[in-house]
This record gives sequence, structure tokens and C-alpha cells, in this order.
Amino acid sequence: MIHKIEALLQQVEAFKPQAAAEIEEFRVRMLGRKGELNIVLEEFKKVAPEMKRELGQRINNLKNAINERIATLREEVEQQQTPEESQRDMTRPGTADAIGSRHPISLVKNEIVEIFSRLGYTVAEGPEIEDDWHVFSALNFPPEHPARDMQDTFFIQKNPDLLLRTHTSSIQVRTMEHQKPPIRVICPGRVFRNEAISYRAHCIFHQIEGLYIDENVSFADLKQSILYFAKELFGEKAQIRLRPSYFPFTEPSAEVDVSCNLCGGKGCNVCKHTGWLEIMGCGMVDPNVLEASGIDSKKYSGFAFGMGVERIAMLKFGVKDLRLYFENDVRFLRQFDSVF
Ligand code: PHE
Repeated sequence: MIHKIEALLQQVEAFKPQAAAEIEEFRVRMLGRKGELNIVLEEFKKVAPEMKRELGQRINNLKNAINERIATLREEVEQQQTPEESQRDMTRPGTADAIGSRHPISLVKNEIVEIFSRLGYTVAEGPEIEDDWHVFSALNFPPEHPARDMQDTFFIQKNPDLLLRTHTSSIQVRTMEHQKPPIRVICPGRVFRNEAISYRAHCIFHQIEGLYIDENVSFADLKQSILYFAKELFGEKAQIRLRPSYFPFTEPSAEVDVSCNLCGGKGCNVCKHTGWLEIMGCGMVDPNVLEASGIDSKKYSGFAFGMGVERIAMLKFGVKDLRLYFENDVRFLRQFDSVF
């Protein structure tokens, strides 16, 4: 029996668990109801009385050795855990994921769409890869117009009839082809021009164009709609001024300026001391354009306008470099969280 106790003592000292779960298995094997210690104690009952004292002591030692070994091993396991793991409080609230915010260009686009929707406009969309007809020919661009020049427009090499739209006026043509007047659409979208990237130009930007066609639509309607838009976007004090201009698809045509919202029209760096900021092009739809899309130009008239969203956003937020809108630097983007 002494041998058995000695052998068990050796086992206890030599026990090196590979995993924490083995400690519990070991405890059960040694101290469990049918464990080694109880087996020894059973045998102990049968030993001669003169042996009991010594054996009893040895068994006691064994029991202590087992308990101590288990306690040490458990402690070791605990220390192997990182302090963070052992102190983990499962009842603490988790860390919330940061919520993203809308891109300033989307915010301004949505705001513009919203303003025109109050005037009864609905959103129309169209393809970014277009054909010559919808971007140029149907819009009264003569074949030799410089916008078709390889320097200005991205053409698709395999098929020169295909190109990246340079303006969203192509959506207006598509709308006129499929819809009878009255038409009131607003056309937001990405457009592409072969421009060198600088603080005020980019080869990709966003436009919003609008088209209104009905019987008896006049230039006065155009002017009033744009004044309403300018006041909604830049504030009640905003004024507009129209300067004669030229577009192949409108006649007469104009550039629209809005009174500078930064200096209130007095003159500052942003408005180059003129008190005015250019915001869009507009005009009465050329009868040739209406006819090209199958609309009777004797019965119907209409106006169109178009603006660059980046430009409006720069004026609205006082941002001086257009490239910031394309860099996706969150330090810049986060500032627009709650502008509207
Ligand atoms: N399509 C013109 C441009 O891209 C803008 C415009 C639209 C001007 C409608 C007049 C009327 O510059």
C-alpha cells in the first residue's frame, strides 16, 4: 500500500496538463467518488491497527499534495490569460460602431432634388455610357462642335459612337423620346470630361439638369423657377442675374449668377469682388431639339437648365478646392454630418 501511495504522489507531481480542462479531469480521477484517494481509503480500512498511524499520515500527505497541485495549476492557467481576459465584465455595454455620414455632394444633390420636387419635378436617370445621338446630335450640336473633339470627350475606342456622357442633358432627350408633355424632370448624375484635374476642374463631376415642357412656357417661368430655387438653397436674401450666353440646345440662352452668399453682394475673394457667383446655364429649349425628340415645337415650348453639383457645394460650404470632394478624407467628410 505504501508503494501505491508513493506512486500516486509521483503522478501528482509529474502531472502537467496541456489544457485547462485536464485539471478538472485530474481532480475527478484523484478526488472523485470512485477516485484514487477513495480507493486508497477503502484499503486503509483493512490494514492492521499498528500500521494505521503511519499510513494515515501518508494518505493525508497525498491528499494535501493533490489539492495543492490542483490549486497551483489553476492559478497558472489564470495568469496565462491576459489581464483584459481575466477582468472581462460581460455585463458592460459594448462599443458602438461609428455611423457613417452622407457625402457632401449627395447632401447637396438631395437638397436640390428636394427643392425642385416642390415645384413638381420628378427625378429621371440615364446611362453614363451614352451614344452620340443623346449627348450631341439630338441636342442640336453641329458635327464639328468642339465638345465632340477627342480632347474634350471620352470616347469608347472600339465604337466611336459610344462615349461617356459630358452632361446629363442626354437624360432629357431620353425623357422627351418616351414621354409626352407636360414634362417636368430633374436629371442628376455623374458626367465625364477630359479636363486636367485642378482645384476647380475634375474629369468626373456631378450635374443636375432640369427640363420643363408644356404649352405656353415662357422665359418668365424659367426666371421665376430659378429665383425660387436660389432663395430656397442660399436663403431668402438671394438674388439672381441672367447674362446672355450660348448653348446649341437652347435659344435664347443665359448664364445664371446668384448674389454672393459670403459677402452678401458687397464683394469678396470668393466672388472676385463682383458680388455675383455663376451657378448654372439655362435657356428656352431650341425648337430643333423638341422636333428631334418628336415633340411638336409649334404646340409646345419649354426651358432647360443645368448646374454642377460640386460648384454649388463649394459655394454653399465655402470650400475652395474641388479635389477635396474626391479624396474621401473622413476628416473633411465628417464636417458635413448635419448641414441640412
Ligand atoms: N448642358 C449644359 C452643360 O453641361 C448646361 C445647360 C443645361 C445649359 C440646360 C442650358 C440648358 O454645360
